[in-house]
Amino acid sequence: MPPSTAGPGRGRRAAPVIVVAHRGASAYAPENTLSALRLARLHGADMAEIDVRQTADGAFVVVHDPTLRRTTDVAEVYPDRRSLRVADFTLAEIRRLDAGSWFGDAFAGERVPTLEEALAVLRECGLGALVELKVERRDPEMRRRLADRLNADSHWRRGQGRLILQSFDWVTLRAVAEAVPGLHTAVLGKTYGRLGLRRIARYARQIHPHHLRVTAPYVRHAHAQGLALFGWTANNDTAIRRLIRDGVDGIISDYPDRVAAHRLSAV
Ligand code: G3P
Ligand code: CA
Repeated sequence: MPPSTAGPGRGRRAAPVIVVAHRGASAYAPENTLSALRLARLHGADMAEIDVRQTADGAFVVVHDPTLRRTTDVAEVYPDRRSLRVADFTLAEIRRLDAGSWFGDAFAGERVPTLEEALAVLRECGLGALVELKVERRDPEMRRRLADRLNADSHWRRGQGRLILQSFDWVTLRAVAEAVPGLHTAVLGKTYGRLGLRRIARYARQIHPHHLRVTAPYVRHAHAQGLALFGWTANNDTAIRRLIRDGVDGIISDYPDRVAAHRLSAV
């Protein structure tokens, strides 16, 4: 079980920094695939971050970009389609795509996973899940579907901090949080003043700013509101070291092994 990501309480971080593999161990395997999630564990992660979007027929799939172009062979498989947007494809259509070859031949045949499959693999690997909901258009039906899915899953609802839902869209995040009692949520995005942090603390447990926006005083302000703070996406040693020094609770990285190495040397 990953370390608890419950809020740090008021004051300093006491626990070792939590290592989060960004889109899985995406420096070593095609992002947001089951291989990237399995490799996250081998590279020292406690949790893996995945990006989730809805298909045309309402399934949740794990893919970062709004279109399938960059990370699949969609243009070859469907040469006549004008739109390559995830939202314009059904799950069955997306399942025909190769989501691994663009990264390397060793990953040929990887599929775009569903949210269900990704969560099952994370559970099997003993990793926590940081699920980012990508919102292109606010959609109450999508929120309801996701809330039903999360409410129905006793594994992820049990132990606090095993699953964190994050989004840049705080309206959607807040609505899902209201529909899923006990859901652990994190606000992505810019930095906020004291009032903003206090408002966020009413419905979220964490804030996740870009690593260049993190400073030690900002981490202290977040902690003073009972919010944990994870920085993203820190890939080089200087950035990782600085985040640890600033007192963040977690670091999201394409190279979880680098964060894990710093965590060891920091003990
Ligand atoms: O986990 C935070 C980070 O993933 C947000 O940016 O574009 O990589 O989804 P992006
Ligand atoms: Ca993301």
